[in-house]
Amino acid sequence: MVLVRIFINGYGNIGRRLASALSVDKEIQFVGVGKYTIDDKVKEALDNHYNVFVPKEMIVAFKDKGLGVTGTVQEAVSQSDLVIDAAMEGGGYDNKKKLYELMKKPAIFQGGEDRHGEHAVADMIHNSRVNYSKASGKTYVIQGSCNVSGMGRVMQPLIEKFGNRIKRYDVELIRRWADLEDTKSVKDSIEWDRNPHHQDDVKDFIPGANLYVDAFKVPSRMMHLHQMFIRFSDRAPTKDEILECFRNEFGVAIIGSAKGTGDIRKKAHELGFAHGDTNMVHIHQDILRVQDDIVKIGYSDDQTGMVIPENHLLLQSMVFKRPREEALKRTDNLFHISEKRKKLEEEFN
Ligand SMILES: NC(=O)c1ccc[n+]([C@@H]2O[C@H](COP(=O)([O-])OP(=O)(O)OC[C@H]3O[C@@H](n4cnc5c(N)ncnc54)[C@H](OP(=O)(O)O)[C@@H]3O)[C@@H](O)[C@H]2O)c1
Repeated sequence: MVLVRIFINGYGNIGRRLASALSVDKEIQFVGVGKYTIDDKVKEALDNHYNVFVPKEMIVAFKDKGLGVTGTVQEAVSQSDLVIDAAMEGGGYDNKKKLYELMKKPAIFQGGEDRHGEHAVADMIHNSRVNYSKASGKTYVIQGSCNVSGMGRVMQPLIEKFGNRIKRYDVELIRRWADLEDTKSVKDSIEWDRNPHHQDDVKDFIPGANLYVDAFKVPSRMMHLHQMFIRFSDRAPTKDEILECFRNEFGVAIIGSAKGTGDIRKKAHELGFAHGDTNMVHIHQDILRVQDDIVKIGYSDDQTGMVIPENHLLLQSMVFKRPREEALKRTDNLFHISEKRKKLEEEFN
């Protein structure tokens, strides 16, 4: 079997999760991770036996600290068949211009990058539930952010079942302030986003959606909660009809007894899920309401875990041009999504 050589450029919240999954995928030759700052995460990467690549001008500084780096970021890119860029929001654009384009290397970018405008990095946003096949053979693709991935995962099954009976979607997006691993403090305030990117991002893969998103950041580190209001042209379907749409959906759990997002994150840690991630959205059936022509679905979205299997699916489309069903099986084997879903549904029944 010819292995595909993959380099993960960036080792933050997303990069380190991608590294722990892809480094054990048997059809990947894991080149290593890119690191830009000397901190305790370098040691973590080395302890995990990853090759660490750093900017050329920092090689000496890393080595002076006794950190055994393998080479430069440039060398890592040149040794790879595909780069997964996991730079901080907006950092992917420079990497594309200075490295990937020059060296003719395909790349996956994360959801913090621009799809439009002068810093656009790709001409499509991937959502495995909606446009997996469109990424096949592409050179540059953005993996939608956690919220955008979650919205696609909830909207598409509804569209397939109810079609143009759905008139409009409104989403109130309640976002965590920081991830659990972030060192920044959580501010005691509720902040609004004057220009949320999510509705345009979702429309990139569901162009016909009449979708309006408002986003609020709250003092929490535990997941995101979306309250999606779906307006129907006639009387709304029943609660059971709505839930039925998600019974066999990959990466969607239907749970009942959680009181909040923190319960789910804590349970994921207790159950020993890697990084404390569930990698999915969780529909809270206890707050699913049908009122006249409106269905209100509240679901939590595992911000850090959600996009990791999505990246794995995307690379299978881009590099292996694999049918979606086969790719889902491989991703499920690597991330145990079905097993995690079952456990969560049992724990919160
Ligand atoms: N966190 C989430 O929940 C989440 C969810 C979905 C999508 N995303 C998206 O994923 C991307 C990464 O987010 P994150 O949360 O992982 O950020 P993060 O934790 O702040 O990590 C960013 C990483 O970028 C590295 N970096 C610095 N300069 C770089 C360069 N020139 N090229 C490549 N990497 C560089 C940093 O390395 P050093 O530490 O060595 O300086 C750091 O490890 C963003 O686009 C974000 O919007 C994040």
